[in-house]
Amino acid sequence: MLVKRLLRGLQSAIMSDKYNVAFVLGGPGAGKGTQCEKIVKEFGYVHLSAGDLLREERAKPGSEFGDMIEEHIKNGTIVPVEITCSLLERAMKNSEKNDFLIDGFPRNQNNLEGWNKQMGEKVNLKFVLFFNCPLEVCTQRCLDRGAAGSGRSDDNMESLKKRFDTYMNATMPIIEHYEALNLVQTIDATRSPEEVFEDVKPLFS
Ligand code: ADP
Ligand code: C5P
Ligand code: MG
Repeated sequence: MLVKRLLRGLQSAIMSDKYNVAFVLGGPGAGKGTQCEKIVKEFGYVHLSAGDLLREERAKPGSEFGDMIEEHIKNGTIVPVEITCSLLERAMKNSEKNDFLIDGFPRNQNNLEGWNKQMGEKVNLKFVLFFNCPLEVCTQRCLDRGAAGSGRSDDNMESLKKRFDTYMNATMPIIEHYEALNLVQTIDATRSPEEVFEDVKPLFS
């Protein structure tokens, strides 16, 4: 009995040392950022969007990676993991909280391997939240986001085609990898943000 209790205490001490992470994936425009905002408000998670962190890094005057990041963003290709993972780890280290939504990552095999190498031991991966949304709906949302003044250099048809290509060829295999590990929670993301959130809530409650 005592041994059991000691073991449980030890286990929870080890677990609480780790960052709790939920990855958030889905096509461009599926509503990842929108739902993450709602989760932050209701459940107190910290939202880290890999895309946002890369855009922030790109905007830093004199950033040695700025031009390279912009090239990848315009072409819908994936920035080498060393950069993205360092930005994520820095943000996690600087946070007082321990529960993170990591949005738009891991996006390809390089992201996955780099993350496992750099962060695997430090993280308790809760699940992968997958916002499932047909490409036509995603396209329209991104075009509308661009028209509404997102200012993003990739919310246009030319970049979108390339982003979807990356999504289908590089990101879907990552979702399948986590599916094989039984870690994926799939949400139908075609409905209104409020309706989608109703399906998201129980996963965090
Ligand atoms: P992502 O982070 O997956 O690219 P966003 O959350 O930025 O997606 O959403 C893309 C665009 O679609 C935004 O303009 C957002 O306001 C809108 N949007 C998000 N979720 C929905 C939804 N469920 N229904 C309709 N529009 C949505
Ligand atoms: O997630 P979001 O749509 O904001 O990502 C925008 C772009 O940022 C991607 O198309 C890609 O070029 C880059 N990105 C990346 N690696 C990630 C996430 C985003 O290179 N893990
Ligand atoms: Mg987003």
